[in-house]
Amino acid sequence: MTPHVPAFPALRLRRLRRTAALREMVAETRLSPADFIWPLFVTDVPGADAEVPSMPGVSRLTVDGAVRAAETAARLGIPAVCLFPYTDPALRTETCEEAWNPANLSNRTIRAIKAAVPEVAVMTDVALDPYNALGHDGLVKDGVILNDETVEALVRMALAQAEAGADILGPSDMMDGRVGAMRRALEAAGHRDVAILSYAAKYASAFYGPFRDAVGATGALKGDKKTYQMNPANRAEALRLVARDLDEGADMVMVKPGMPYLDICREVRDAFGVPTFAYQVSGEYAMLKGAILNGWVKEAVILESLVAFRRAGCDGILTYFAPEAARMLAG
Ligand code: PBG
Repeated sequence: MTPHVPAFPALRLRRLRRTAALREMVAETRLSPADFIWPLFVTDVPGADAEVPSMPGVSRLTVDGAVRAAETAARLGIPAVCLFPYTDPALRTETCEEAWNPANLSNRTIRAIKAAVPEVAVMTDVALDPYNALGHDGLVKDGVILNDETVEALVRMALAQAEAGADILGPSDMMDGRVGAMRRALEAAGHRDVAILSYAAKYASAFYGPFRDAVGATGALKGDKKTYQMNPANRAEALRLVARDLDEGADMVMVKPGMPYLDICREVRDAFGVPTFAYQVSGEYAMLKGAILNGWVKEAVILESLVAFRRAGCDGILTYFAPEAARMLAG
């Protein structure tokens, strides 16, 4: 649709930019703490509950610390947190069985948060990398990431998370067929109301570096994730992945990373009209935070970067800035 543009001076677009009240009246998108999902790193390794050097301002939390963060989320109007465990290196194996241990760190944290702040939604990560001695999201044999064997492991992991009380499962592994397998297993086990937010269009990105530091996967990972995560050059494939995951039983979909992929966010929202989320990933956080701390850009880049996701059609954003941005929005 081409907008009708009357001739000057009938139209002076600056009239509606003159005051804050007028600008607010005609704002086309809104940003609120309700749009945020706050990713939390948890650990029970003594001494590991420290700031992540490549993510200034973000620390790994103890289980108690994660409960306090969930309480903060509730106070700030942030509806959901998403848990990522920094697993004890001694528990990381090539077979990854700690991933479906009902009493693993992630599952204990889910239980603790749901007991203390049941109104906050808890989202999980369904992928093997925090438990894998080889740092990959899937099981590895002779250097190859196995698809179907990994899906079986992910199903066990998903069931343990649902059993622990997770509200939303977030498969971030990019194996084929995992959403369908998880959905069938959840139905069969009576977990009919557990939601799946699929990392549907997840690109093989160098912007994940600081996250891998945070969960302790950087040193372990050999090679890259390009045989399962998407090529950054592709867009049609992103739409096929979203269609596929929705068919298999995803309730919501995600595009990841965020800022370099806003075109994909817009296309997904327009093509499917389903709840669409973006992940403003660790490297995006590190870039913005690093520049802010150096005084190279102002803190205002935080809300500007987040409203961009809303303008691109996203219903919400996973962002490490969630508490800071919520406080900024509250004035
Ligand atoms: C892995 C996973 C990753 C992120 C979320 N889940 C990293 C990866 O795929 O290597 C990245 C999040 C971020 O960078 O903030 N299952």
